[in-house]
Amino acid sequence: MMGATIKSIGIYRPELEVTNAFFEAYLETSDEWIRERTGIERRYFSSEDEYTSDLCVKAVEALKKNHHTSVDDVDFVIVATSTPDQILPNVASRVQARLGISNAGCIDLSAACGGFVYGLILAKGLIAAQTHRRILVIGAETLSKAIDLSDRNSCILFGDGAGAVIVEASSDNHVFEPLTDTDGSLGKELFISHLSQTVDGEPILGDGKMHQNGRAVFRWAVSTLVKNIPVLLEKNKMTLEQVDYLIPHSANIRILEAVCKNLDFPMERCMESVRSYGNTSAASIPIAWYNGLASGKIKQNDQLLLIGFGGGLTCAGICLENKIVLGEAD
Ligand code: UT7
Repeated sequence: MMGATIKSIGIYRPELEVTNAFFEAYLETSDEWIRERTGIERRYFSSEDEYTSDLCVKAVEALKKNHHTSVDDVDFVIVATSTPDQILPNVASRVQARLGISNAGCIDLSAACGGFVYGLILAKGLIAAQTHRRILVIGAETLSKAIDLSDRNSCILFGDGAGAVIVEASSDNHVFEPLTDTDGSLGKELFISHLSQTVDGEPILGDGKMHQNGRAVFRWAVSTLVKNIPVLLEKNKMTLEQVDYLIPHSANIRILEAVCKNLDFPMERCMESVRSYGNTSAASIPIAWYNGLASGKIKQNDQLLLIGFGGGLTCAGICLENKIVLGEAD
């Protein structure tokens, strides 16, 4: 079976920095509450005419610059997002056209905050099947366009950003066994609806906005990660001690702390992006991975465990050996 490896990464965040003071100015909330209950200090919002495809293109341009590489020979593009520019055409096709990639399949992947890891799993499968050799996997969101700014329970949480990697065929495999898990009966706890519909008999408005039962999702997230991380390790015949860095979806620093405490894993070896970017859903894991590399913590050959979770409610994890090295240009 053909192996897969990941050697390149790029991220992008929009220009506009939004601190907690922005919300303090018009909502009954405080910088102190937001930091204490979520860890978030700031996030970035896209401008009115800046869409998810724009963030994807910028992340790929950063990847090209970081690794002095080209994407001309990419043969498949996967964009994981819950905030596509539009439903049709998909974001991946827009990215393909903007980057001038020829002969590439293009799909968007809708699995909320688990989307980036689902993308890695699909890319690994396509490479193993030998139908494709060089696959761009991007997690990108413009969640600022989907938040209800009057809902203090959710609007303070989310931010915009993008992260891109290339999964490529390799004689040595560095992308290991995955895990996937979903409980669709909890879908009503976190959704963005574009259609007026009923959920469990309750009418909901198709307002295109994020609706979340934060407490329910929080509880599910902690118990799901505590249950699934050992299962994923078992599938990989690994122990937690062998994991150099855990990179869970960065939804709330307290979720990460609770999971690390439960599993007796040191929080210093848990990479996050939530403090400086907010919850960027599908983009949060590649941003945290990049930050770990840029800060010099994550090194070549480190064992990583990535695990995404969110709307669905769905979860996806994968173990891999880090082969990304950031050059001096970074
Ligand atoms: O990425 C997809 C997955 N998403 C997640 O994993 C999100 C999971 N959930 C969370 O991160 C947290 O549940 C939240 C950050 C959304 C909320 O934190 P919490 O500690 O669970 O707060 P809570 O919902 O239990 O609310 C506690 C109190 C409530 O007041 P009362 O009822 O105790 O008087 C809320 O009304 O905090 C209040 N509250 C706020 N107060 C100030 C809720 N939002 C705010 C706010 N500022 N922004």
